Amino acid sequence: MLSKLRQSVLGHEISELVQSDLALVEREIGVESVASVEAITTINQYLQAGGGKRLRPVLLLLTTRLFGPATDTARRLAAVVEMIHTATLVHDDVIDVARTRRGRPSINVVWGNHTSVLAGDWLYMQAFQLALRERNFHILDTLISLTQMMVEGELLQLERLRRLDISEADYMELVDRKTACLFSACARLGAAAAGADDAVEAKLSDFAWNLGMAFQLVDDILDFTSTEKILGKPAGNDLREGKVTLPMIYALERATPEERQIVETVINDGNYEQAPFMRVLQILEQHRTVPRAYERAHAFTSKARALIATFPESPAQRALQAVVELVTERAS
Ligand code: IPE
Ligand code: IPE
Ligand code: MG
Ligand code: MG
Repeated sequence: MLSKLRQSVLGHEISELVQSDLALVEREIGVESVASVEAITTINQYLQAGGGKRLRPVLLLLTTRLFGPATDTARRLAAVVEMIHTATLVHDDVIDVARTRRGRPSINVVWGNHTSVLAGDWLYMQAFQLALRERNFHILDTLISLTQMMVEGELLQLERLRRLDISEADYMELVDRKTACLFSACARLGAAAAGADDAVEAKLSDFAWNLGMAFQLVDDILDFTSTEKILGKPAGNDLREGKVTLPMIYALERATPEERQIVETVINDGNYEQAPFMRVLQILEQHRTVPRAYERAHAFTSKARALIATFPESPAQRALQAVVELVTERAS
């Protein structure tokens, strides 16, 4: 399913800059999807055909384009980050007992948990093998630290599951680990592939980190406010999975004991049978926490906007500004 954000990314001025590179990245992912065991190849093909926004390769390619045309290194790394992202999603869907991903049955549903864990492992290693072809320790260092950050984040999230006392700081740490650090690595790698100096690389990494924070905050808001048709996964999913995200953290600060009880019921039941989703939405509405969470997301996009504005104007710089706006306004 081609999501709205992907359509707008590709239908934009952005597309002129990255479309041909992205097609090569897609081809590289396809080539790297082939294993000597057929089941893994089949799963990889199912994953690639499932679509997704390809936001991380786009970010890496646009960052590199700030400095000139994309090199083979940049395209290769764009494939690497998308493969790492996909591997985290495969494992994540096992952990979260997900039913749907990108509008289709998730891998764990079609092939079961055991096969999915192994397919995810294989994909991680294939991504690293591809990165290794660069023979560059800085790149490997970035990717290994990143993957460990993300895995630790998933573990911390598991530990914090079903907890109503999660703080805003706890939540922000999870968002950093599960999303922002990968965005940040994409920009870092895009800059490194272009041979940018350390200070510039750090600034772009900071830019993308803020973009990633905003992206995940908006994702968590949309989980309440959007629909399954648009999201490609069920709405209200996070709370059902026991994840207390920012709009709910804010609501719980002011919730009555009865409201708190409703939230607890959803979390403990893992469904909306006793406590309907509509009732949960009313609680958020009552305490006006969706606008408050958006304000927090916008603080990150403002930071990202300010950082990218310090770069000289160019098509790539404008395209990165457009990505910031798309992430802020996105509906899916
Ligand atoms: C999904 O990321 C996981 C999150 C960080 C919310 P995306 O929303 O970028 O997923 P795809 O790749 O477009 O499916
Ligand atoms: C996404 O986390 C997985 C990672 C980025 C590691 P979530 O579990 O919160 O996201 P969805 O809802 O499954 O995409
Ligand atoms: Mg999940
Ligand atoms: Mg998860």
